[in-house]
Amino acid sequence: MTEFHDLAELALNRDGQSWGNLGHWQSATDYSDACRALATLLGEQAGLDHKSIVFDAGFGCGDQLLLWLEHFGVSQIYGVNLSHSQTAHAGNLLARNGRPVSAEAILQGDVNDPGIWTTALNGARPSHVMALDCAYHFPDRLAFWELAQRNLAPAGRMALTDFMLAEQHRTDGFRHRLLRWMLKSAHITETNIVHRDVYLDQLEKEGFGNISLVDISEHVMPAFTSGDGRGLRWSAWCKYAVTSRFLKWAYHRSVLRYCVVSATKADQSDNRN
Ligand SMILES: C[S@@+](CC[C@H](N)C(=O)[O-])C[C@H]1O[C@@H](n2cnc3c(N)ncnc32)[C@H](O)[C@@H]1O
Repeated sequence: MTEFHDLAELALNRDGQSWGNLGHWQSATDYSDACRALATLLGEQAGLDHKSIVFDAGFGCGDQLLLWLEHFGVSQIYGVNLSHSQTAHAGNLLARNGRPVSAEAILQGDVNDPGIWTTALNGARPSHVMALDCAYHFPDRLAFWELAQRNLAPAGRMALTDFMLAEQHRTDGFRHRLLRWMLKSAHITETNIVHRDVYLDQLEKEGFGNISLVDISEHVMPAFTSGDGRGLRWSAWCKYAVTSRFLKWAYHRSVLRYCVVSATKADQSDNRN
């Protein structure tokens, strides 16, 4: 079966690692380190600790699940990933590292499907919902937030890294037409990408407060690289080369910004149904 999100990124990694995000390149010099740095930043922003119960939306090949467990010492993990191949890889990775998780807790499925949350969580209430470099890929980011809000424990926290439109970006010119074309090619829903003020409004309307939104674009967008491309299939090499050029253009032309976002479920009442 051909999947849009598959195991192609394995070739970008070293030492049996299998990250697949854009990376945080401030002090990293290779792809795996940059990806781990982005995940670590997100975990810190979320305030993960040994009491945390994490629901991870879009956990990739599972390296971040190990990071939550081993580096942050979280107590439980649950998650969902659209990709069949990555979900199988993640299950094996956890088992190989002595952290087996039940196949029901780490599930293949669409995070926009309410039933998948119910099945994965099986009555548990996450203190944290995480989405590392993937919310813009979801069919409907707002519907994802609504489900996070519904399933989080009271005062739980959602943390994600995400794209938004740069403040100066206008939606009526050539740059926007090019952006729309790129989003379509990358299977990204256009309405997921909005200006920062709209993004903040949307978070508040979904019932989130105590919002932190930090622009980390300079350490992500112009720096993303797939290295020398050795070991990559031709189609994958093209995909990463285009992504890298596009991100540099979108950063320098003030089209997109990349941020780490966290927000607390403001409604302290239990609103899961
Ligand atoms: C750019 S990758 C990031 C992977 C991983 N978080 C990492 O940092 O290595 C995007 C991830 O989102 C997942 N994804 C995309 N759409 C999804 C959906 N509707 N539901 C669940 N996962 C989804 C993909 O399968 C992929 O694992």
